[in-house]
Amino acid sequence: MKTVNFLKTEHTVCILQMLNAGRALAGNVGKGWSSMAKRISTKECEALFLQCATPPHVVGHCREVSRVAAGIGEAMNRCGYRLDIDLIRGAGLCHDVLRVCDKHAEAGAELLENLGYQAEADIIRVHMTYDFHDFSHLDETDLVCLADRLVMENHYVGLDKRIDYILQKAKDHPGSRRRILQKKEETRLLMSRIEEVIGQSVDSLFADGQAQEPSVSQNDMPV
Ligand SMILES: [Fe+2]
Repeated sequence: MKTVNFLKTEHTVCILQMLNAGRALAGNVGKGWSSMAKRISTKECEALFLQCATPPHVVGHCREVSRVAAGIGEAMNRCGYRLDIDLIRGAGLCHDVLRVCDKHAEAGAELLENLGYQAEADIIRVHMTYDFHDFSHLDETDLVCLADRLVMENHYVGLDKRIDYILQKAKDHPGSRRRILQKKEETRLLMSRIEEVIGQSVDSLFADGQAQEPSVSQNDMPV
């Protein structure tokens, strides 16, 4: 297992919890945890939340990001894409598992890497800073990062409401306003591209505000 190097901070405790979680779960691989699994399952993510003492409101947020990202991915796959829904679901579900830690994206990525989930780790590592750029080639990272920008806490709210909230929070930092609006425009372009593919608005996929039950992943099938 790789060693994770962090500066000592007030969040040292949560870093230690993370490492312990990684070791405990890595030790379980082959003892009931599927050693063949390429993608982290919902059960494994839920175990990580417990091991890492992820706060309940963050868990709720992660579940909603996972649901929304997988929902968009499934709609795209119905229209000819071949996105890896298990990857989207798993990366979305654990993207903020260590949100209470400093540099939580990097810390979460290290944790998933230690558990052997490199593809999930790659998405988690960039989710705070990701720029949507190549609209001709949409991938799993795009969808997880998009969903994170459409969900507020544990509800799908859509782009306008989410950005309004961020602008309100940043109202004392006028310099950030332009950057936030640029991000919004970039995100809107990505959504337009997706909407061309699926033939309906992203908002309409989640219009009822309720969880449209995601399909059951192979990884989540009861054993
Ligand atoms: Fe998030």
